Amino acid sequence: MLLRLAFSILSLVGPVLSQSAAAYTDPDNGITFWGITDPVHSVTYGYVFPPVADNSNEFIGEIVAPIGTKWAGVSPKGTMLQSLLLVAWPNGNSIVRSARYATDYVQPTAMSGPVLTDLPTTKVNSTHWKWVYRCQNCVSWSTGSGTGSIPVSGSGAPAWVFSDVGVDNPADPQSTFQEHTDFGFYGLDFSQAHVDTATYARWAAGGTGGGTTTTTTTTTTTTQPPVTATPYDYIVVGAGPGGLVAADRLSEAGKKVLLLERGGPATWETGGTYGPTWAQGHNLTKFDVPGLFETMFSDSNPFWWCKDITYFAGCLLGGGTTINGALYWLPPYSDFATTTGWPSSWGNHQPYTDKVKARLPSTDVPSTDGKRYLEQSANVAMQLLNSQGYRQLTINDNPDQKDHVYGYSAFDFIKGKRGGPVATYFKTAKARKNFTYKQYVYVQNVVRNGAQITGVKTNDTSLGPNGVIPLTSNGRVVLSAGSFGSPRILFRSGIGPTDMINIVKNDATAGPNLPPQAQWINLPVGYNVSDNPSINLVFTHPSIDAYENWAQVWSNPRPADSAQYLKDQSGVLAASSPRLNFWRAYSGSDGKTRWMQGTTRPGAASVTTSYPYNASQIFTITLYLSTGITSRGRIGIDAAMTARPLVNPWFVDPVDKAVLIQGINDIVANIKNVAGLTLITPDNTTTITDYVNNYDVSSLCSNHWVGSNSIGLVVDENTKVKNTNNLFVVDASIIPQMPMGNPHGMIMSTAEQAVTKILALAGGP
Ligand SMILES: Cc1cc2nc3c(=O)[nH]c(=O)nc-3n(C[C@H](O)[C@H](O)[C@H](O)COP(=O)(O)OP(=O)(O)OC[C@H]3O[C@@H](n4cnc5c(N)ncnc54)[C@H](O)[C@@H]3O)c2cc1C
Ligand SMILES: *[C@@H]1O[C@H](CO)[C@@H](O)[C@H](O)[C@H]1NC(C)=O
Ligand SMILES: *[C@@H]1O[C@H](CO)[C@@H](O)[C@H](O)[C@H]1NC(C)=O
Ligand SMILES: *[C@@H]1O[C@H](CO)[C@@H](O)[C@H](O)[C@H]1NC(C)=O
Ligand SMILES: *[C@@H]1O[C@H](CO)[C@@H](O)[C@H](O)[C@H]1NC(C)=O
Ligand SMILES: *[C@@H]1O[C@H](CO)[C@@H](O)[C@H](O)[C@H]1NC(C)=O
Ligand SMILES: *[C@@H]1O[C@H](CO)[C@@H](O)[C@H](O)[C@H]1NC(C)=O
Ligand SMILES: *[C@@H]1O[C@H](CO)[C@@H](O)[C@H](O)[C@H]1NC(C)=O
Repeated sequence: MLLRLAFSILSLVGPVLSQSAAAYTDPDNGITFWGITDPVHSVTYGYVFPPVADNSNEFIGEIVAPIGTKWAGVSPKGTMLQSLLLVAWPNGNSIVRSARYATDYVQPTAMSGPVLTDLPTTKVNSTHWKWVYRCQNCVSWSTGSGTGSIPVSGSGAPAWVFSDVGVDNPADPQSTFQEHTDFGFYGLDFSQAHVDTATYARWAAGGTGGGTTTTTTTTTTTTQPPVTATPYDYIVVGAGPGGLVAADRLSEAGKKVLLLERGGPATWETGGTYGPTWAQGHNLTKFDVPGLFETMFSDSNPFWWCKDITYFAGCLLGGGTTINGALYWLPPYSDFATTTGWPSSWGNHQPYTDKVKARLPSTDVPSTDGKRYLEQSANVAMQLLNSQGYRQLTINDNPDQKDHVYGYSAFDFIKGKRGGPVATYFKTAKARKNFTYKQYVYVQNVVRNGAQITGVKTNDTSLGPNGVIPLTSNGRVVLSAGSFGSPRILFRSGIGPTDMINIVKNDATAGPNLPPQAQWINLPVGYNVSDNPSINLVFTHPSIDAYENWAQVWSNPRPADSAQYLKDQSGVLAASSPRLNFWRAYSGSDGKTRWMQGTTRPGAASVTTSYPYNASQIFTITLYLSTGITSRGRIGIDAAMTARPLVNPWFVDPVDKAVLIQGINDIVANIKNVAGLTLITPDNTTTITDYVNNYDVSSLCSNHWVGSNSIGLVVDENTKVKNTNNLFVVDASIIPQMPMGNPHGMIMSTAEQAVTKILALAGGP
């Protein structure tokens, strides 16, 4: 069991943990767990803990598995050795389970200490088996061979294991079994996975229902003085790249604008303070220093991720642009062409892209001394590409040239620090009297009377009666809450498919805020979603400096590099990890053209080879499929109001997969021509086709989601939500087809054009 965990995980970065846990409510027992459903095997793994302050040593967990699952197990701590391991399987109509422990990568044996109690909704039916359990003496443990604990007040990467091969003796809780046939990790912010003492006690005693996770803070509204709310011309919801461009341009036009953001500040300039000790006294936060990008995924307190979305999304000022790799591409013509689903009125993007470029230039030399650093992986990749007929150019000087081209990675860092829309658009907006910014305000829904929006309902009762902030008489709301966030606000406003609105209706908090059913607006919100499917190839080459796989940059960077960065924001730490990008067009068996993008960087998220290799020499080429993909998925919410994919968007169409496999084969075809270059993931025991076919589905995610409010389907060509008078969406969700590159530059051009159309539209303030 778990043997492969030892080899698989080098450092907990990026795509390995592309799935992150969120709250969900189990309909059988009403318990709100934090966990995931693994998208390959459809097994659900969840946990919930009593309050940290209770200093309790137990939790409640569950495993819900399709009946074909022969056994499954968990390691809440995420490691195999010296860790609490729980395994379970069905035997007839009952569940057999045990706590196990291992001190070596061999069959784990019985663990003494944990006390397991099966809770009442444990069952086996014709389609599933389900183990709901209380685990006492389970948060920290001490055995003859070591101690360990689950990081209940921080974050972790719990593991799951799965097998489709039965155990040797199903009736025996201590049965032996063969090594699992699959396993995975996910990110879990344990600090969120707690309920109040009374609720926990009720559930632990077998009681059901009535999770109070969302209502633990009882606000004493009755004692507050009555609040009067200020009306605004425009209320913009969400301060990501879409919302920041929209709010800045609307206030520039003299409108009275309110920008609401659920998260808080990040960069130093905006009031953030969270930085590495080595930069103390220098007014630099984690978000300012480009070289700290990879550490977003390995931090013990990642307060920046949205905790109610199952994939990574930034919930703070700047949205995704504050935590992303800052790869920044000016859009090609095709990004707004009718061939990619845009109305013809959007075809001339150039004036809007020029506005973005003027406000926020790009650079492929982010270090302030004008030098390039850590370029070895780019040089090796160039050798591979040269033998495939690629040529080099400055990518953003030639945005329309995207076939057989490569160039240095371009970013929107400014003076060696994170720039993006926060350092530009937000800065100018904030200086205006007509612009008001409120952070830590969560917008639940828009308030409407049929087609007319009258305001937004927030969680902050100091901003208006019941938290409602009104619009001026002909005011407008702009939703910019992102590809998951904007659909959720629409569902909670009675706009979207009936199945989603019915989930809202059944929620004790959200249901009463829905408009009457006769006013529900049926639109395909959440459908037609896409994201780049991406596959990592890991290589070694003797010239590479893997930069300790970025593992040291937060706590213990190379002293010369941190000193150089602190001196004048130059050197290795003035860029995030990518070094080279490339594109190539492919035609598929269906006659359609699809573009492949590549990104090269030192280091790797995970290595799966059993051959020895030199970890100081690893680098990754990520291959994505972008414009032209035909696969589409669906985004929705579950009963805990968590936003999640309902249908995964990757490789739905087998032609997408075939094209990416072809592209990968082309990249690896010339490995032998580059002296010293070795592909280690996949290694020579695995074909590219098998590697892609067996790739962990959630790791295909690129966090570039678009399309959940596609223009033409949900919003009209002015970005107004259909069948409403004054509700608009300006963010990634309105983009109908994958853009050519990592999307945030293109999203800003979209927002520039959208806001121009909104201001020109009659009937507004
Ligand atoms: C880990 C990661 C790496 C990435 N790397 C790159 C890259 O290198 N280059 C690139 O171009 N793109 C990258 N992306 C993608 C890019 O960041 C996103 O596509 C982009 O940020 C989307 O912009 P948006 O305006 O649509 O939404 P977001 O950036 O998601 O912003 C939405 C904002 O709305 C707020 N919000 C949401 N709901 C509410 C609510 N109910 N009330 C109030 N506020 C709310 C959120 O807190 C957030 O600030 C990356 C994304 C991730 C997650
Ligand atoms: C079996 O139980 C699972 C988990 O609770 C549930 O989703 C499924 O609908 C049940 N199947 C049947 C046939 O009742
Ligand atoms: C916007 O600001 C300008 C001056 O900055 C002022 O003249 C105008 O009245 C303001 N508009 C609104 C709607 O507050
Ligand atoms: C840091 O910012 C403070 C004000 O916020 C300023 O007084 C100080 O000089 C700055 N320090 C540096 C090193 O820039
Ligand atoms: C509203 O929600 C935000 C985001 O979750 C949170 O930070 C803030 O404290 C909440 N405000 C109130 C008044 O509860
Ligand atoms: C949107 O998605 C639906 C359902 O998946 C599909 O039938 C439809 O063709 C899609 N529309 C577009 C324009 O992609
Ligand atoms: C591993 O690679 C590093 C960096 O290239 C090199 O310094 C070191 O000698 C290599 N180790 C071995 C055992 O080859
Ligand atoms: C596969 O790779 C390993 C390690 O690089 C090497 O020792 C072995 O000879 C290779 N096998 C084949 C068939 O190429």
